[in-house]
Amino acid sequence: MENEPFLLLTGPDLTAAQSFYDLCKDREIRKEFLGLEINSIDAAKSFLAKQTDLVGGKLSFFRMIKIAYNEDPNFHDDAHTTLIGFISVFEVGTGDLFRNGGINHNLAFAIAGQYRNQGIMTMALNMTIEALIGYKFNFISALVKSDNTGSEKVLIKCGFDKAHSIDDTSTFVRRLCMPATVYNSTFLL
Ligand SMILES: CC(C)(COP(=O)(O)OP(=O)(O)OC[C@H]1O[C@@H](n2cnc3c(N)ncnc32)[C@H](O)[C@@H]1OP(=O)(O)O)[C@@H](O)C(=O)NCCC(=O)NCCS
Repeated sequence: MENEPFLLLTGPDLTAAQSFYDLCKDREIRKEFLGLEINSIDAAKSFLAKQTDLVGGKLSFFRMIKIAYNEDPNFHDDAHTTLIGFISVFEVGTGDLFRNGGINHNLAFAIAGQYRNQGIMTMALNMTIEALIGYKFNFISALVKSDNTGSEKVLIKCGFDKAHSIDDTSTFVRRLCMPATVYNSTFLL
C-alpha cells in the first residue's frame, strides 16, 4: 500500500546505477568528490558493486539515500523510489590521513541540488549514526573544507565537535560508543 513519502537508506542498489550516475553529474558533488570518477553508467555499476559492508572485512559502509513510498522492501528498487543522495564511511588515503590527524576513516555524504536545505542530510546522518552505533563504532569523523558551510552545519546539528584544522580543512568527530572521558581526552583537549 502506498503511504506518505519517507526517507530510506539502502545498500548499494544496482538497479539504481543510472540514477546514481545522474546524481554524480551534480556540479557541487563533482567539486567535492574529485576522486569519484562516475563518468558512465558502467562506471556507476562498477563503483556500486565494489561497495561492501562493514561485516565484509574491508572498512566500507555505503548507503543510498532515497525517497520511498512503501514500507515493503519489494518496492525499494529504483523503479519505486527516488535516489536523492548517498552517505558512506570509507578508509582515507595517505594524504588525508595526515590532514585527518591519523584518523583512518571518514564520512562522505551528498544530497542532490534540488533537495538541499530541507534538513534531509541531517536526518540521513542521524539515521547513519544509529546504524554505526549498532555496529559498535567508537567514533566517527568527517574532513570538511573550510568553505563548505552547509556540511559543517549538518555535522554540528548532528552532534559533531570540531577536533582540529589543518590548512583549509577541519576534522569533525562524534562520539558513538566509546566512553565520554576517553573521547574528550583524545579529541577535545
Ligand atoms: C552538504 C550537503 C550534504 C548538505 O545537505 P542538506 O540536505 O542541504 O543539509 P541540511 O538541509 O540538513 O542542512 C544544511 C544546513 O546548512 C545551511 N547552509 C547550506 N548552505 C549554506 C551556506 N552557503 N551558508 C550558510 N549556511 C548554509 C542550511 O541553511 C542548513 O542549516 P539550517 O538547518 O540551520 O537552516 C549538501 O549541500 C551537498 O550535498 N553538498 C555537495 C556535497 C558536499 O559538499 N558534501 C559534503 C562533503 S564532506
